[in-house]
Amino acid sequence: MAKVKTTFFCQNCGSQFAKWQGQCNACKEWNTIVEEVIQTPEKSDWKSPTSKVKKAAVPLRIKDIDMSNEARLDTMDGEFNRVLGGGIVPGSLTLLGGEPGIGKSTLLLQISLKLPYKTLYVSGEESQKQIKMRAERINPNNNNCYILTETKTQNIFKQIEALEPDIVIIDSIQTLHSDYIESSSGSISQIKECTTELIKFAKETATPVLLIGHITKDGNIAGPKILEHMVDTVLQFEGDRNHVFRILRAHKNRFGSTNELGIYEMQGSGLREVSNPSEILISKKDEELSGNAIAATLEGMRPLMIEVQALVSTAVYGTPQRSATGFNAKRLNMLLAVLEKRAGFRLGAKDVFLNITGGINVDDPAIDLAVVASILSSNEDVALQKDICFAAEVGLSGEIRPVQRVEQRILEAEKLGFSTIYVSKYNKISLKKTAIKIQLISKIEDLVTMLV
Ligand code: TYD
Ligand code: MG
Repeated sequence: MAKVKTTFFCQNCGSQFAKWQGQCNACKEWNTIVEEVIQTPEKSDWKSPTSKVKKAAVPLRIKDIDMSNEARLDTMDGEFNRVLGGGIVPGSLTLLGGEPGIGKSTLLLQISLKLPYKTLYVSGEESQKQIKMRAERINPNNNNCYILTETKTQNIFKQIEALEPDIVIIDSIQTLHSDYIESSSGSISQIKECTTELIKFAKETATPVLLIGHITKDGNIAGPKILEHMVDTVLQFEGDRNHVFRILRAHKNRFGSTNELGIYEMQGSGLREVSNPSEILISKKDEELSGNAIAATLEGMRPLMIEVQALVSTAVYGTPQRSATGFNAKRLNMLLAVLEKRAGFRLGAKDVFLNITGGINVDDPAIDLAVVASILSSNEDVALQKDICFAAEVGLSGEIRPVQRVEQRILEAEKLGFSTIYVSKYNKISLKKTAIKIQLISKIEDLVTMLV
């Protein structure tokens, strides 16, 4: 094991000595010199090894830890601030992931152009001219934003030391490359090394760093999973590329909740904040169509509103057809049997088609109630109101069962502008005041009387 290295520091002026002495040569104070453990320059250090040795960390009482300069940086972007939990924490590392072309570079460039601080935007993907062209579309007048096209971390840190920016943006972590590691950019060890250097830099200088990360084809951030553990915040930028709306979510946030989401609209002049998200739903469909119902589901940890469509029609040929896309066909049959037995619907001679729009596959049981509602709506040919949604499981005896994390679903529905959400009476909900009406139901018969 390597020997612990110590050295002597004057507590008054910070001068460093090789051995103890009574008086400090520099400030002439007596009895101020103490021995401290130092960190030897390691290989993953953002400063060059010749830089001054620094003191190793010592334990502090929690009440003695200085919080005075921990005020968050306002990004001037309401949606971004909200997702981060109120702005960027100094010294934090934020990772923004998302599919290619979704607008990650646009979002962070736009934020750099809005910020009133000195910002350094480091791009390993585009040239300065390309970035300038993009910036021209967004906000051409900004004197605080510096663009650097560089991929070698040691060179980036040299520029940072000279420029002393208040915030650093890296596009993207997969293009960075450190001299300390042989392997090529984007490899696991390079990503780990470059992130370690950036974390050290961020923590030591209290400069926040925003990283852009590529994602793999299954939607995870490319590189080691440890990358997500290393950074303080992981944001995901998503949305349908052919669609104009983009959703920003926090997957992990050491300084705030992960329930908030930010919505943007991609326009010719960059991303516009959508502060009233119900405008998305209302603009999407003006007509109320029968057979449509919205379910508040969870995709992994994330709440997601999806649309369920059902078509119930009289069977033309002998045996009625039952078909489901994106939903378990056996479960559909079970729900039809429950409807038949408990609510007296004669669906035995009807074809039933069910479709989850958007081509997603859902196995969250909380979608049951929306499936039942869409079938009822199609069967009666009565459209449901477009601003209601559902989140509950249906049991074999027709009881409406509670679902996990119902509050998160309710908040998502509220955020997206729904006026009413139908949930099970047996769900424990501790939300105090909500703009959305929470309709509690216990039996499937209740749903029938409420909707039809
Ligand atoms: P980009 O930020 O390059 O995506 P990423 O960095 O995630 O790969 O997104 C570029 C897309 O956004 C591109 O298809 C063009 C579109 N766009 C606009 O519609 N308006 C704009 O003002 C800008 C800058 C880009
Ligand atoms: Mg990009």
